[in-house]
Amino acid sequence: MRYDLAAVQGLPARDAVSANAANFARSGAWPGMWRYKSVLPDVLPVTLGEGWTPVLRSKRYPGVYLKEEGANPTGSFKARGLALAVTMARHYGLRKLAVPSAGNAAGALAAYAAAAGIEANIFMPKDVPFANYLEAVLYGAHVTLVDGLISDCGRMVAERKGREGWFDISTLKEPFRLEGKKTMGYELVEQLGWEYPAAVFYPTGGGVGLIGMWKAFGELEELGWVKPGKRPRMIAVQSAGCAPMVRAFDAREAASTMWQNADTFASGLRVPKPYGDYLMLQILRESGGMALAFPDEKILASLQDWARNEGIFLSPEGAAATAAYDELLARGELRLEDRVLLFNTGAGLKYADVTAQAMGLRRPLAD
Ligand SMILES: Cc1ncc(COP(=O)(O)O)c(C=O)c1O
Repeated sequence: MRYDLAAVQGLPARDAVSANAANFARSGAWPGMWRYKSVLPDVLPVTLGEGWTPVLRSKRYPGVYLKEEGANPTGSFKARGLALAVTMARHYGLRKLAVPSAGNAAGALAAYAAAAGIEANIFMPKDVPFANYLEAVLYGAHVTLVDGLISDCGRMVAERKGREGWFDISTLKEPFRLEGKKTMGYELVEQLGWEYPAAVFYPTGGGVGLIGMWKAFGELEELGWVKPGKRPRMIAVQSAGCAPMVRAFDAREAASTMWQNADTFASGLRVPKPYGDYLMLQILRESGGMALAFPDEKILASLQDWARNEGIFLSPEGAAATAAYDELLARGELRLEDRVLLFNTGAGLKYADVTAQAMGLRRPLAD
């Protein structure tokens, strides 16, 4: 998506954005990510209140800002991309959508499709967190549980879409999910006083958020909305059970190769061969960033640490980001006072079953 940014440029950032927010507020709607409507397609949104999520300060690390994406509708950052994708699908009169998903995109599509009165066809691994299955069924989507990973689900959608008349809204195969996720870049910059942090920690599967934020930074610079400064180092975080980006980054490859037997309780990170891998690798290098992976035990330890010491129930994906922060601090790559932004991409409560299982926790039998 490209915009006539010169037409937006006339207004100072704060005025443009707060005027949008005030307009929405007057109409009784929560503006959320639509406060950035001047840099989004100019159509009537299908909204459930996505975006403008809180940025929380850590109690222990003065430089850490945690963006709590679990506060989105359907409890994950996927709401942003699917809100815009379904908005545009309705705008263009599409009636049937299909998506392969690691879990949270499925739940988000199901919700927005229900809100728009559009059919949703969902393919996801059979062992997704139960919440992902429940929400998809509850919102009335057609759900297929697949004995495989998101890549197998993607193949099934590709095989059937022509015959079934489905529009495929897979990651990066249409422009609007990226465009919705781009709002994370605008928000984090605005919430930090229109300044870049030193680094952004992003739990990475398909990488749409990473690519979207990088696009947002380019637009912010063109608009002159962000204070001049170096763009953040982008840190892609994965699980050691599925780390194609880390392998490709460390080997200085231009693209990733399929990760075999992907296995992690951070289900959103189970993307064995991201479609936009080459874009992510370019961004990681250009930003002076890196890709890091941690075993599930380390991710779980960080999740428990943040629950006990910060009162925040992270998703396993978010806990991969906090584990990565600890690692870079210990290595001396970051100082305590460096301002960094960590994404908790989903609400911990969506993962009640898989996190309890990872902890070996079972409900005691009642008398
Ligand atoms: C909670 C969570 N975090 C991170 C990711 C990875 O997101 P992306 O595919 O945009 O890299 C997902 C994807 O399903 C997810 O559900």
